[in-house]
Parts: sequence; structure tokens; C-alpha cells
Amino acid sequence: MVGAVRSKGSGRVGRGPIDPLELRKVRRPLDRAATLPGGLFSDPTVYEQELERLILWSWQCIGRTDEIAAAGDFLTFEIGGSGVVILRGSDGELRAFHNVCRHRGTRLVEPASGGGLTRIQCPYHAWTYDLTGRLLGAPLMTGIKEFDREQFGLFPVKLESWRGFVFVNLDPKATPLATYLGGLVRRAAPYPLERLRRARRVVYDIAANWKLIVQNANECYHCPGVHPQLAQITPYRSGEEDLTDGPVFGGWMDFVDGANTLTASGTTRRKPFAGLSAEDRRRVYYYVLYPSNFLSLLPDYVTFDWFLPLGPERTRLVFDLYVDQDEADPADDAMEFWETTNRQDWHICEMAHLGSRTVAYHQGRYSSDEEVVHLLDEYYLEQMGLLRRGG
Ligand code: FES
Ligand SMILES: [Fe+2]
Repeated sequence: MVGAVRSKGSGRVGRGPIDPLELRKVRRPLDRAATLPGGLFSDPTVYEQELERLILWSWQCIGRTDEIAAAGDFLTFEIGGSGVVILRGSDGELRAFHNVCRHRGTRLVEPASGGGLTRIQCPYHAWTYDLTGRLLGAPLMTGIKEFDREQFGLFPVKLESWRGFVFVNLDPKATPLATYLGGLVRRAAPYPLERLRRARRVVYDIAANWKLIVQNANECYHCPGVHPQLAQITPYRSGEEDLTDGPVFGGWMDFVDGANTLTASGTTRRKPFAGLSAEDRRRVYYYVLYPSNFLSLLPDYVTFDWFLPLGPERTRLVFDLYVDQDEADPADDAMEFWETTNRQDWHICEMAHLGSRTVAYHQGRYSSDEEVVHLLDEYYLEQMGLLRRGG
């Protein structure tokens, strides 16, 4: 139905099964395509399918290797109800495991981070594992038939690092991280990512579906209205997209004359990263590492977002801002800029969420400035098994 709010008996009202014909409209060329149906943004069943088909089986960047620098250091996190512990063993290796006891499934490590771990002991019945995940001890299991300790180690989670960033993937058969990153590896090569020091972290809780937040991060169609400050430094139609095949999507925007970074003034005391070309010093690059992370490369700092869906209508976002390890400046100017910009974004995403979940919202149309959002939406439907790639 076009041009009217759906009524009782007219098919889907608000939440409910998604019509395949609606999904096929997303696949059309941009100038004829329709946006994602509203039912995809708040339906608990869709959300469960997203966890099972997409989010749990994707590479997620959880932080930096220097956060888990010493033997026994650890981090824990939870995604879609699945807990993971990442630790550094006495052999110096980083490993990740499901944070689940092999006896009756108890969460093993509770704190978000810490150090000094020499073994992992379940708080329930004291099954004990070493830092390679091997089951060392299990009280009163002697004499239990066909119980082979070797078969009851912690379940490993795939872990790889890229230039100081630690990624995990719950899919044991995940593609190698370098394959997933694709063209980003070359694009980020001039930036000294292994030298980064985290200057700031801010965690936001946003009352919006995760897809709305990812979409928002990948278009500047909203910039003139939502971010007047940002739009003055990087004109909203500047730049180009250079990675468009997924799962990493994005491109760059250009600074106006007289600006060389994203701060309120467009300038900073910080030195640009060594070795950047004149071209890179006039650009900000933005890439989504679909579906869980977002990277911005600027001449003097880097930001990294981690999207953690908490449900169909709530998303936690961990925002990190990095500078060169030798940079003494605390990056207050950059953080102040992003605090303003982020809060503008989350507010508009929350407003979009409120509308998307109503009976009135169906499918909109893409503007000519939403090329990446269109690509992301097609990619999402393919990954969800709702549209066949190229079909
Ligand atoms: S649940 Fe872990 S030892 Fe029983
Ligand atoms: Fe924005």
C-alpha cells in the first residue's frame, strides 16, 4: 500500500511477518529502491534471528592488545547473551573462550577486566581450568564413567589481532580476519595504528535499534540539519565512497580550507600522524566494519565504535578515541567535538526508532546521498538469508 497508514485487515500492521515483496524493493537500484520495512527495527523475533544469523557470527573488535598486556590479564564481554573471556596466558598468547563452565554452564569470570589470573575456577562446584582452557580439576568426578577430562576444556572462541586491535568471532569457521577487513587493510596502512594510545572512552546507551545507528553512521545526508558544526568543517556532500563490497563499507570526506581535523575550530595543537600524504591530511575516512564496529581515521586521531545490541530497541555503544602513544595532548578538543556530535546522532536515532516502530511507518525511499546505507541494507538482507546475493 502506498500513501496510507496500514489498517486492520490490510496485511501486516506494525510488527509481524515481513513481506518478501517488500524486501525485494530494497534490492532495486538506488533511485528506485525502498528502505527497510519498519517491522525489522523492533520485532523481537527478527532480533533473535539477527543474533543467530549475523551478529554472533561476525568479527567484533573488543579493544586493544595493550589492555591485556601481561600474563593473567583478562577482559570479559557479552554479546547477544553469550559471554566471552579474553586472556593472556603465561606463554604470552592471547586466547578467547566462551565464559561458560563445562559442568552446568555457570558464568566463570565475572569482572569486566582484571589481572593476575593463573587459572579459572568455576564459582559453583570448583571445576578448574588452566589459561589454555584445559580442564585441570573436577571434584568428585573420579569413577564417573566415560568422563574424559581432555574432552571438557573450555570452548575456544576465534581471536585475531590487527595492528593492535583485538577481534573475536564466535563462529569457529569464520573467514580469516584479513579477508574480512579486505580493502581496509590497504586504506589504513599509512596510519600508525599499532602506536595508538586510548585517550578517552565513553559508553552510551541508546534507545534505538542497532541498524538505525549503523545506518546513521554511514550517511551525511543528515549532517546539515543534525550537525551544523560538523557540516562546516567537512561539507556534507564532499568526498567519495571507496569500499563498497562489504563487509567493510565507507570512504572519505574532505576538510574545508583552513581546517585539518574534526574539532570545534577545525584545528588542533596535536601534530598530524607521521608519514601521511598531503591528501590524507585533508581527509577524514569513515568505515563501518559490519555489523559491529565503526572506524574513523583522522590526520591526528582515530575513533573506534563498538555497537553492542542489548535487544531490538536498545544498543550500547562503546566509543574510543585514540592518539599517538607519544602525543601528550589529552585530546579534549576532539572529545568535546564527538560528545556533541555523538549526542546529536543518538538523539536523532532514538527519534527515528520511535517512528519506525509505529503502524504508520512502512518503507521510505533513499536519497542520492545514501548510497552506503542502501548497500548496507542489501548486505544485511543477504546475511540474514532474506535476499540472495546478486539475486
Ligand atoms: S557449574 Fe561449574 S563446576 Fe558446576
Ligand atoms: Fe551523524
